[in-house]
Amino acid sequence: MAFTSTDPKRYTITAALPYTNGPVHIGHLAGVYIPADIYARFQRLQNRDVVFVCGSDEHGVPITISAKKEGVTPQAIVDKYHTIIKQSFEDFGISFDNYSRTSAKIHHETASEFFKTLNANGDFIEEVTAQLYDPEAQQFLADRFVLGTCPKCGNEGSYGDQCERCGTSHNATDLINPKSTLSGSTPIKKETKHWFLPLDRYEAWLKTWILEEHRQDWKTNVYGQCKSWIDDGLRPRAVTRDLDWGIPVPAPEAQGKVLYVWFDAPIGYISATKEWGEQNGKDWTPYWQDSQTKLVHFIGKDNIVFHCIIFPSMLKAQGEFILPDNVPANEFLNLEGDKISTSRNWAVWLHEYLQEFPGQQDVLRYVLTANAPETKDNDFTWSDFQARNNNELVAVFGNFVNRVSVLTQKYYKGIIPSFGTLTPGDQNTLAELRAYPQVIASSIEKYRFREAQTEFMNVARLGNKYLADAEPWKLIKTDPERTQTIMFVALQITAALAVLAEPFMPHTSNKLKTSLNFSVLEMTPTWPEMNSDQFWLPSEHQITATPLLFSRIEDEQMAFQREKLEATKSKNTLTSTPIMAQKETIVYEDFAKMDVRVGTITAAHKMPKANKLLVLKVDTGIDVRTIVSGIAEHFTPEDIIGQKVSVLVNLAERNLRGENSQGMILMAQNDTGGLTFVAPKDPEWPNGAVIS
Ligand code: 2FM
Ligand code: ZN
Repeated sequence: MAFTSTDPKRYTITAALPYTNGPVHIGHLAGVYIPADIYARFQRLQNRDVVFVCGSDEHGVPITISAKKEGVTPQAIVDKYHTIIKQSFEDFGISFDNYSRTSAKIHHETASEFFKTLNANGDFIEEVTAQLYDPEAQQFLADRFVLGTCPKCGNEGSYGDQCERCGTSHNATDLINPKSTLSGSTPIKKETKHWFLPLDRYEAWLKTWILEEHRQDWKTNVYGQCKSWIDDGLRPRAVTRDLDWGIPVPAPEAQGKVLYVWFDAPIGYISATKEWGEQNGKDWTPYWQDSQTKLVHFIGKDNIVFHCIIFPSMLKAQGEFILPDNVPANEFLNLEGDKISTSRNWAVWLHEYLQEFPGQQDVLRYVLTANAPETKDNDFTWSDFQARNNNELVAVFGNFVNRVSVLTQKYYKGIIPSFGTLTPGDQNTLAELRAYPQVIASSIEKYRFREAQTEFMNVARLGNKYLADAEPWKLIKTDPERTQTIMFVALQITAALAVLAEPFMPHTSNKLKTSLNFSVLEMTPTWPEMNSDQFWLPSEHQITATPLLFSRIEDEQMAFQREKLEATKSKNTLTSTPIMAQKETIVYEDFAKMDVRVGTITAAHKMPKANKLLVLKVDTGIDVRTIVSGIAEHFTPEDIIGQKVSVLVNLAERNLRGENSQGMILMAQNDTGGLTFVAPKDPEWPNGAVIS
């Protein structure tokens, strides 16, 4: 459905439910939540009936994996991160009407009902099939419990349900060379019963609905992915799992089975709307069941198949629900040239950003929109962040507002002056200004948020140009009357900025509206009225000085951020190297034969004509002896004199290039060939102390 001739009656706007297994970062904000928030705020500003929902995605394998890693229950994980994520969204002004969670009773009921309806309608295939099973972990291996080669693109690290490289969604049994992520072993196949959604039944309908009806209005990246899957042919997909974390399958013979997380999560949008209805005395049904409602899903590109193919097929099967009008999925945001990753801690976490840049949420919102990955993957860099803040927010937007505020206070004690004859220049400026709300609106309606924000900044540029041309600070001396008119026009631009900033920079917009004293105006300036002939700030209206909206970000702050990332990188290099497999088991007696002591290197020199060898004198507490060690490529003799070491003292003597070596220094080695000494933590520990 495309609402071309008439406006929709209401908007249901959803933002992907984040997995509750970690905090949220800039990639989440840029890809999903800021664009969704701009859209929702904009529609509200047009006085449209909007419900904007989201919530925590608390089921599924990612949660159980995190719980295992942290050694706590899945419930503890979701409780912890639900609170952190919810707070971050609030802090960044993401204006959800309801942020729910899929562990809520209302969601369990809604998802169960949905399943039961489809089951009763015969919309599933129930089948016993052989699925991947890890006999060591005694568990079926679905989704992220298994990794293997993607049958479509050859990515060797594809998950059981989805390949993150090509986006394809598949069954775990489709993977080539599957490996259990629980034990590393190759899974066997074991029979188990599951409920399958026969996507093939919807293929013809999807072809018409997406490939024909949405050819023009869906984004190229979204349309392209859908086309590729549909062209490949759709197959039944299991919507249940053998897991102990999730919503129990509401059917006989389903003990120990739960709904697949991607079956229940999108239903979470419906549950969140229901919960909002209950909390606000509203009927939720038209928001999901009236054809005059425009449903828009904001997601990242890895979610496209679920929102464009699977969830719509579920809604279609259920029969009572509307379908999304658009799914404006974004591509990914990288960080300083590398893929953002929770597990590698390669991210800018929102809660950390707020500690380091207190009160500067809008700067991040602005930069992430200016550089949003709308049509291709993009890169976030701290230098771009600094430049956009200093050269755009401070120098363009902040500078204009500040100049107008200072001059209004100085010349008129904050009272909007009256205006005289408007020159053609004034009229042109006002005409240009009045065109902007429509220009920005049109970009937002097309989901082009970068473009919309650029146009918004052009309003501030228009203001700066107007001031630079009119030079009221000079004219005040010779023509105070004309100056009044100039300031009056400049103040209208400021009022427009206050209103138009709201979708992009809500905190800044609020500051500006407060200082412009909007609340006491008879007619509060609103977006739809801005292209009429009226003025938004009347003469004689009292305003207060605007606080500084933005401040410069200095090089030291950026250096700190870069160092933080460098530290993460070094840590990852050290820890990400594969660990050598464990050696054969030995008995205690084997170990007890080794006599390892604390020692100190007292002298060292390079062995002539041997690149790798150093000849060391080591005080073992028992004696001072010679040990030849293969560490010359890593340490110079000067580096290591005085170094505490662990020495295997009862190793049989060996002759190495003419030197009698009487023991061995213990070293830790990583996979990239790095070496470090293994020594007692306390350097005062005496030589000869036994290590066992
Ligand atoms: O990719 C994710 O983070 C998923 N948790 C998104 C779910 S969106 C929806 F369907 F709920
Ligand atoms: Zn793939």
